[in-house]
Amino acid sequence: MKALVTGGEGGIGRALRARLEHEGFEVESLDLANGFDVTSPEAWSRVDAVDVACLNAGVLTGELTYENYRDAVSVNVDGVVLGVLRLREVMDAGAIVATASLAGLTGMPSDPVYSLTKHAIVGFVRSMAPHVEPIRLNAVCPGIADTPMIDHQRAELAAAGFPLVEPEAVAEAMWRAVTGGGTGECWFVQPGREPAPFSFPSLPGPRVDGERVGRPPI
Ligand SMILES: NC(=O)c1ccc[n+]([C@@H]2O[C@H](COP(=O)([O-])OP(=O)(O)OC[C@H]3O[C@@H](n4cnc5c(N)ncnc54)[C@H](O)[C@@H]3O)[C@@H](O)[C@H]2O)c1
Repeated sequence: MKALVTGGEGGIGRALRARLEHEGFEVESLDLANGFDVTSPEAWSRVDAVDVACLNAGVLTGELTYENYRDAVSVNVDGVVLGVLRLREVMDAGAIVATASLAGLTGMPSDPVYSLTKHAIVGFVRSMAPHVEPIRLNAVCPGIADTPMIDHQRAELAAAGFPLVEPEAVAEAMWRAVTGGGTGECWFVQPGREPAPFSFPSLPGPRVDGERVGRPPI
């Protein structure tokens, strides 16, 4: 069985790889650090079928400039959408798990564009899942995780005694998403809690003359 992990050289990526290897997969790491750029359609065109794909590469925005905005959207959004488009061409079955974030389920004032990109992944996974069946497409949504991505905030978080998500806990959620039967799910990962699919609240639907109307026919 084969697997790929984008951003496979980062903190969460390494844990995803280790877990998949432990489960018996031959795992390929696709990372800028080893020459694979998830923002490149040409790079994706060379990717073959796998049984499990973790679309995990991601970046914070940094200072909110036009360039940084485009970079964050490119890695965090294009990197997932291009991956799904390629994988649905070459895979007949299996599982894709995108790494979103809790910042995709709630606002994150410290990095609004990062939050934008992760909301995009949540919306994409929930909307795209029916279009890639029988491949199952899910997301994991970790809280603040103990990886190099948060090095610049580590001291502040430690001083506040804030608990961090272990990368292995993200890998556990990924594996539950892979082995569970669901699709279009967004699994939250928080310290001290069992990972589970987030229960989205139901929307206030339209009413006509006070009566509920069903889902839109499109
Ligand atoms: N660390 C956190 O607090 C946290 C919380 C929730 C979600 N996440 C998400 O988890 C994922 C992994 O992040 P991490 O915490 O392991 O960070 P990390 O910085 O340790 O790893 C990110 C990896 O992505 C790679 N990468 C960046 N741009 C790339 C590109 N264009 N093509 C290929 N690879 C690229 C980097 O080289 C790096 O190895 C990201 O999507 C991140 O947004 C992280």
